[in-house]
Amino acid sequence: MSEPDFATIVADAWALLAAGAGDRRHPVHTPVVASVDAEGRPQARVLVLRAADAASATLRFHTDARSPKLAEVVGRPVSILAYDPGSAVQLRLAGTARLADSVAADAAWAAATPFARRCYLATAAPGTAAPAPTSGLPAAVEGRKPEEAELLPARDNFAVLLMEVDEIDWLHLAATGHRRARLRRGDGGWRGEWRVP
Ligand SMILES: Cc1cc2nc3c(=O)[nH]c(=O)nc-3n(C[C@H](O)[C@H](O)[C@H](O)COP(=O)(O)O)c2cc1C
Repeated sequence: MSEPDFATIVADAWALLAAGAGDRRHPVHTPVVASVDAEGRPQARVLVLRAADAASATLRFHTDARSPKLAEVVGRPVSILAYDPGSAVQLRLAGTARLADSVAADAAWAAATPFARRCYLATAAPGTAAPAPTSGLPAAVEGRKPEEAELLPARDNFAVLLMEVDEIDWLHLAATGHRRARLRRGDGGWRGEWRVP
């Protein structure tokens, strides 16, 4: 078996992330993003991966600006976990999150479908206690596609999270022998180190 070099592993990892971002049926489309809450407890949740840019080592996610995760991830360490059964590759990414500026958020908002944007019309913040099962949406837009004008107030609740990745733990499963590498990103680019799987 020919062994990949670290540059190939990094390139393949970003190609996998880009493939996941671009295809809603791809397993890497829905990675788990983990953070630590104010009480020091781990919190993990699935987020749709919207974009992956190898050059800036940045991943893009969308969320509600009122959601508790925002305070947990912005400026704080995050861990992102994805597994691709097709290539038998697990990616454990570490990095820091920041909010995109309003120009980038406006562009992402404009590109989102009306149904995707409708989620941000919820009248109370995600996680707010409710007296009965609820979507949180105003009754007027429940169960139908909202008009553009109805979506205007939702824009303020929409946030774009950018996660800058500084470490990739790459694990490849193979009957001939698993392989694991840790890649760290510094001023000189990515540097790799083999690990026992
Ligand atoms: C398949 C799937 C995709 C999801 N995508 C997103 C998403 O893109 N953004 C988001 O904020 N929440 C998304 N969620 C919901 C989150 O997993 C989570 O329940 C919600 O954001 C509340 O998280 P928080 O309490 O940590 O803020 C998704 C859930 C699933 C099951």
